[in-house]
Amino acid sequence: MAKSTSIYVCQSCGNKASKWLGKCPQCGEWNSYLEEIASKDKGGKQVATGKAVPIALQQIESGSTVRITTADAELDRVLGGGIVPGSLILIGGDPGIGKSTLMLQAALSFAGGKVLYVSGEESESQIKLRAERLPFSGGNCYILTETNSQAVIRHAKELQPGLVIIDSIQTLRNEYIESAPGSVSQIRECAADFLRYAKDENVPVFLVGHITKDGSLAGPKVLEHMVDTVLQFEGDHHHTYRILRTVKNRFGSTSEIGIYEMQGSGLRQVNNPSEILISHRDEAVSGIAVTGTMEGLRPMLVETQALVSSAVYGTPQRSANGYDAKRLNMLLAVLEKKCGFRLAVQDVFVNIAGGLKVDDPAIDLGIVAAILSSHHDVPLSPRSVFIGEVGLSGEIRAVNRIEQRLAEAEKLGYEEIYISKNNLAGLNRKGFKIAIKPVGKMEEFFGEVFG
Ligand code: TYD
Ligand code: MG
Repeated sequence: MAKSTSIYVCQSCGNKASKWLGKCPQCGEWNSYLEEIASKDKGGKQVATGKAVPIALQQIESGSTVRITTADAELDRVLGGGIVPGSLILIGGDPGIGKSTLMLQAALSFAGGKVLYVSGEESESQIKLRAERLPFSGGNCYILTETNSQAVIRHAKELQPGLVIIDSIQTLRNEYIESAPGSVSQIRECAADFLRYAKDENVPVFLVGHITKDGSLAGPKVLEHMVDTVLQFEGDHHHTYRILRTVKNRFGSTSEIGIYEMQGSGLRQVNNPSEILISHRDEAVSGIAVTGTMEGLRPMLVETQALVSSAVYGTPQRSANGYDAKRLNMLLAVLEKKCGFRLAVQDVFVNIAGGLKVDDPAIDLGIVAAILSSHHDVPLSPRSVFIGEVGLSGEIRAVNRIEQRLAEAEKLGYEEIYISKNNLAGLNRKGFKIAIKPVGKMEEFFGEVFG
């Protein structure tokens, strides 16, 4: 009979204490300690079974890690070009964002052998119902509704799948730990079980994880340290676009993103994001400007919208959706002080279309163009793009990767593009058919666009 004692574990950082503490001395979090029952002889059954021996680096065969490509090109891209065998991948996201759908699609379309899809959240029939909505046959997909991590691993060793998906890590429990599923010690031990399984059997394992209300992955930070790759699935519930981002990747860059659209029949990969983010208007409307941002290494044109109207109440309102509100205030101050626009008595609302959040300063010029267009009620040409960072003295600053942004605008049929003068250095203008309009200062820009 295992002798158990209680310990108190910080749910934020995993620090342990023998008594309850109001504030964690390690991470400074308040009220984060929960009682957990630790089983004393847990280690006894698991020790000293390692078979690994030291190998000289030169003797290790290179090229043995052939990546497994999936049917999902966006997923492959964020993973750095496919799944690395034996890797442990954590995918986090808000509830209802589509993590289970994404994983089930990956399972149903997987061509590298059997797939074991372990669900602690849904029953077999619920998964079947969901799978029927998706356009995949899924001949090789096995569903297991089990929450005991050892039992899952036993089944996995029997089935010998090419891919294991755990949905979610918070519902699993390790029988040697007596605390409730979802607690720090359970998550840590279950993740360790799958880490061992993935490395021993050389099978990739996806772990789905929940996200707490402050945006971090529920469970200890140690989980993020343990896994090879952390992916974040994000988006807005009111919009259908979803972005898959790499937060950490031991086998690739973290600057790639994948874009999906949630449809009635599952998630559709979006190969050309600019096309969906821009409404194709025939008539010119004031307050709309097209600008270009970089998401990872991909250029993307987005539509910025602004509404400027006289403030009804004493204090004018400023609101920014998808854009930093402080930066909006800064742009308004620059317009007021440097260009003499009386915006202080106006309500200003700014929105990035499509529910996207952009923090690339290169879209400043687009935001400014949309604000001025709405302020003067003069529509901008639907065939123009505005790219540039606006500085505090009203200067338009150069942005990175200008060639890629130009090429994207040209590809989508835009006819003219406003960029910073400073971006001209080293730029081969002859290579582009799109008319390049270099501008240096805000006043100059205003004169040129609104004349
Ligand atoms: P789900 O994958 O269950 O989210 P998570 O696992 O991250 O909690 O996604 C649920 C949402 O996706 C739900 O609101 C319905 C929607 N959905 C569709 O719009 N189309 C579909 O084909 C599917 C399967 C789900
Ligand atoms: Mg789910």
